[in-house]
Amino acid sequence: MSKPVIAVIGSAMMDLTAYSRVIPEPGQTIVGDLFTTGFGGKGANQAAMAALCGAKVHFIGGIGSDLFGDSILENFEKLGIDSVGIQRSNTPTGVAHIWVNREGENRIIVIPGSNHEIEISKAISSLNEIENLSVVIAQCEIKQQVTLAVFTAAKVRGAITILNPAPFEPLSEELLAICDWLIPNETEFKSLTDAQPYEDANLTGFRSGKCSIITLGAQGAVLISTDGSITRVPAPKVSVVDTTGAGDAFVGSFAYGLAHGMNPETALRLGISVASMSVSKKGAQSSYPTQAEIAMLS
Ligand code: RIB
Repeated sequence: MSKPVIAVIGSAMMDLTAYSRVIPEPGQTIVGDLFTTGFGGKGANQAAMAALCGAKVHFIGGIGSDLFGDSILENFEKLGIDSVGIQRSNTPTGVAHIWVNREGENRIIVIPGSNHEIEISKAISSLNEIENLSVVIAQCEIKQQVTLAVFTAAKVRGAITILNPAPFEPLSEELLAICDWLIPNETEFKSLTDAQPYEDANLTGFRSGKCSIITLGAQGAVLISTDGSITRVPAPKVSVVDTTGAGDAFVGSFAYGLAHGMNPETALRLGISVASMSVSKKGAQSSYPTQAEIAMLS
């Protein structure tokens, strides 16, 4: 059976992570426990997860002409991700400075760098060269006008568009109108609506007639279908080491599920299983389950 084809238009970063039992206060210096560098960026993480699940993934994005950029390309090659749509610029590759505390909670500062240098016309050409395109995913770590242009082209091709509005920024009505799926987490949902996603009443009428999922961390996720029906799916209890990239693991595996022909609830359950596995290990992509581990889920 041929692999479902997914394109990710989005960010690729190097994650520079400090692990420390506690996070310093303003003006305070503390001694931490561990420093790691790892592959990150919400777009690259989602691409990696979809590829590990079994999709043929094409990545469209921007990296620098530097060592971090070279490493990101090597990583994509190892994962079998097509990187023909990656544009290289003289602006440094994006980096994320991450602090993780003993509860596994993170604080992240992203410096977008070359992720903000993507040329729209080249991105659209890259998308249009992809055969049998089924699903296109984006986030908010690249410029919104790039996502809008690529999603517009994706809709012309008949592909399903999924936007993960992370990190949160106000979204244009034009972009919202062409997102088949919107997948915010609870904080992003609150920014979008000024309401909490824990009560069904607050979800009624959200993106009327369109599909959404709100991810709720340890509490799982909630699916809002086109007819307005609401399905809450809990997450298994797991011991948390590092939550970095868990939301991306959800989006990448959910997108794979849809592209593979699963119904939305089944794809959502796959997303929750995979994201729950990822929080038990350190890092973003370094925490993702292997193809063998994912195969054991079905
Ligand atoms: O969602 C986690 C990701 O956010 C990290 O990998 C980091 O690169 C930031 O983009």
